[in-house]
Amino acid sequence: MKILVTGGLGFIGSHTVVELQSQGFEVLIIDDLSNTTMSVLDGIYGITGILPTFVKLDLKDQAGIETFFQTHTDLKGVIHFAASKAVGDSVNNPLSYYHNNICTLIYLLEAMERYEVNNFIFSSSCTVYGQADKMPITEDAPFKPAESPYGNTKQIGEDILRDTAKVSNLNGIALRYFNPIGAHESALIGELPIGVPQNLIPFVTQTAAGIREELLIFGGDYPTQDGTAIRDYIHVVDLAKAHIKALKRVLHKEQQTSFEVFNIGTGKGSSVLEVVTSFERVTGQKINYRTVNRRKGDIIEAFADTRRANNILGWSATYTLDQALDSAWKWQSRLTSN
Ligand code: WQD
Repeated sequence: MKILVTGGLGFIGSHTVVELQSQGFEVLIIDDLSNTTMSVLDGIYGITGILPTFVKLDLKDQAGIETFFQTHTDLKGVIHFAASKAVGDSVNNPLSYYHNNICTLIYLLEAMERYEVNNFIFSSSCTVYGQADKMPITEDAPFKPAESPYGNTKQIGEDILRDTAKVSNLNGIALRYFNPIGAHESALIGELPIGVPQNLIPFVTQTAAGIREELLIFGGDYPTQDGTAIRDYIHVVDLAKAHIKALKRVLHKEQQTSFEVFNIGTGKGSSVLEVVTSFERVTGQKINYRTVNRRKGDIIEAFADTRRANNILGWSATYTLDQALDSAWKWQSRLTSN
């Protein structure tokens, strides 16, 4: 069964491709290589021994999308990761985020309708909640005004899917990721931040590897147990497996409604300081850090209520924070040794 994975050479995309192949799906990847490299394709092949079909394509190229669907006519579903995802960057470049994240979603959905490809898994984010009022966060928590154009593109993306699924044959599921971290156990694929990492874990591993002088902890005065912000850090392989569960749900027409959303997290919150101390304990590497002012736009706390994903998708996170941090360090060590 052929599945298209857009952004399939990205961090979450590549781990999902590996899981799809290991479940016997035939995978086609579209990626514009704007935020990754072809080495990820080698990594996927190194793990599964199966080379996915790869098409370099920017989804803003509508003619290119048409050609793709004309060429690959027997697609059974699409898992859509391709999007710009740096929160801070989106504040400075809103138009490019709305163009790259919203227009491409529309072009893709229009092509899917023309070619009667109805099954769609959307990469959403806990960012849609902003600072939720209650923890753990449930899927019916209201959308707060987005803190960034990036977050807004995820809110708008879900609205586009919800409205389209109501009046078409589209069967969609949006997975609201909490904080994806870690790497495949082979250390052949992982998070490839280009430039200075924005996210915590790649910054921690690069500090441990001596690439960064010191980690700056953004904010030590939050109303939390140790004063640092709390997030729900989920192993990227657990996250990838959630996509397979969601895909099978739409393929087997098990949905209760034509558009569903699920939180994908561990259900446990960890503070920045807890992450740093866990990393040091698990890897034996010392992290040089300094606490500075809060980062603009950051929320205090977010961790998932995962009962819907557990009970309806039949999915649960299996890896611990320690295992995820250890896998991130193994990946970093391999990157640094190359
Ligand atoms: C985590 C915590 C920082 C870096 C973002 C997006 C979200 C999703 C995941 C795409 C925060 C602190 C970080 C550093 C630090 N991306 N931190 N020093 O902001 O929770 O979520 O990435 O879907 O949509 O919003 O993740 O890893 O950037 O930060 O202290 O050098 O680590 O302040 O408390 P975030 P993050």
